[in-house]
Amino acid sequence: MPESATTHPDVLEKLVSLCKRRGFIFQSSEIYGGTGSVWDYGPLGVELKKNLKDRWWRSMVRARDDIEGLDAAILMHPRVWEASGHVSGFVDPLVDCRHCKKRFRADDPRIKGEPGTPEAQCPSCGMKGTLSAPRLFNLMFKTFMGPVEDTASIVYLRPETAQGIYVNFLNVQQATRQKVPFGIAQIGKAFRNEITPGNFIFRTREFEQMEMQFFVEPGTDAHWFEYWKEQRMQWHRSLGLDPARLAFHQHTKEELAHYARAAFDIQFDFGGTLGFQEIEGVHNRGDYDLSRHQEFSGKKLEYFDQPNNRRYLPVVIETSVGADRTTLALLVNAYREEEVPGEAEGRTVLGFHPALAPIKAGIFPLVKKDGMPEMATRLANDLRPHFPVFYDESGAIGRRYRRQDEIGTPFGITVDGQSVADGTVTVRDRDTLKQERVSADRLREYLRERIEP
Ligand code: GAP
Repeated sequence: MPESATTHPDVLEKLVSLCKRRGFIFQSSEIYGGTGSVWDYGPLGVELKKNLKDRWWRSMVRARDDIEGLDAAILMHPRVWEASGHVSGFVDPLVDCRHCKKRFRADDPRIKGEPGTPEAQCPSCGMKGTLSAPRLFNLMFKTFMGPVEDTASIVYLRPETAQGIYVNFLNVQQATRQKVPFGIAQIGKAFRNEITPGNFIFRTREFEQMEMQFFVEPGTDAHWFEYWKEQRMQWHRSLGLDPARLAFHQHTKEELAHYARAAFDIQFDFGGTLGFQEIEGVHNRGDYDLSRHQEFSGKKLEYFDQPNNRRYLPVVIETSVGADRTTLALLVNAYREEEVPGEAEGRTVLGFHPALAPIKAGIFPLVKKDGMPEMATRLANDLRPHFPVFYDESGAIGRRYRRQDEIGTPFGITVDGQSVADGTVTVRDRDTLKQERVSADRLREYLRERIEP
């Protein structure tokens, strides 16, 4: 954690309510009382998260010639998770309260005293001496493959996407004829039976990861580790996240995951009690994964370096970022409430980077007459194949602007009396509130330039 505590307010509760009301994020299976820490993305949320994932894919795969894409399956051979160390190592110690039946992590700071002894007090019901000694609990979800539910048919829902990349390392390398150093990237779902999920989409049991594994020659890994740390921080800044709310955190020996030689988190300041928290991990995984898969599968996974006529297991530098957690960072970073000069009513704004905003422009006829709705509808239809736009003719114009501010739409295009006469429209900037007159013919080009300058 960075030394300084957060100075930003807690906006999570307000965001949960805005996200539900405006269709960003709903609780899963809400009509049945909800499913624990699982969330559904509504019409605006799915666009926001997709824009984020597309941006990651573009920067990792499309814009470079040394990283290949992959989409590996969620279900994998069960031996994969023995080799990866997850069957034995992906565990949290848990304690149970015999009285209230609640379950806690053994390191829960609210537990006073040593669990399993008569002194320890339950943080939920307050009883003394009712907490069990810690037991290890594996975080992987188990299910069965095929019609027989026995131990031979157990498979796991992957707890990270990375393993799908390691087991395909040689398939991808040989198919693409990439030479080390090169990377493989994928976006996909991961599942963890988290004991203390919560804080909206910050820690959930089903989530999406965007992971890239970069395979390098042993001895060059320190260089590539630094390179990827900087690249990834730069990428987070490019999303419009406030640079003052981003920080590196180096893992201590005790914090390192079982596979890591060295690790840095990229943290974002979520404000309130959460403060600075990890959104991405950059790890030097050594040759741990490839050597374990080689050992457990009995198949050689060495890379053949033709110029030097030498075979070796590459070292892996991993960058692993949560799509949901970064979506939450975008929402927290963007949320603001402000007064509007000269107006009684304030406004709530999601100040997203225009390239990430779910809707790029609201299109409004000033009034519902004199040819304005017709011209505005025409404009909306012309723009729609190029950008997500929203046509709205209901209510006072100020109200319509505010509805778009609240969902982060960067531009408000209004068709007024002058528009019908001279073919110009006004474009209102969400953040500065400045209005500019632009020729309707130029609007597409104008928006394109302003969305991705
Ligand atoms: N392959 C390495 C790996 O999985 P991790 O630090 O456990 O590393 C990487 O996870 C990222 O995945 C985290 O920085 C976070 O953004 C996201 N993540 C992990 N667990 C999560 C959860 N339960 N809910 C939401 N996001 C999660």
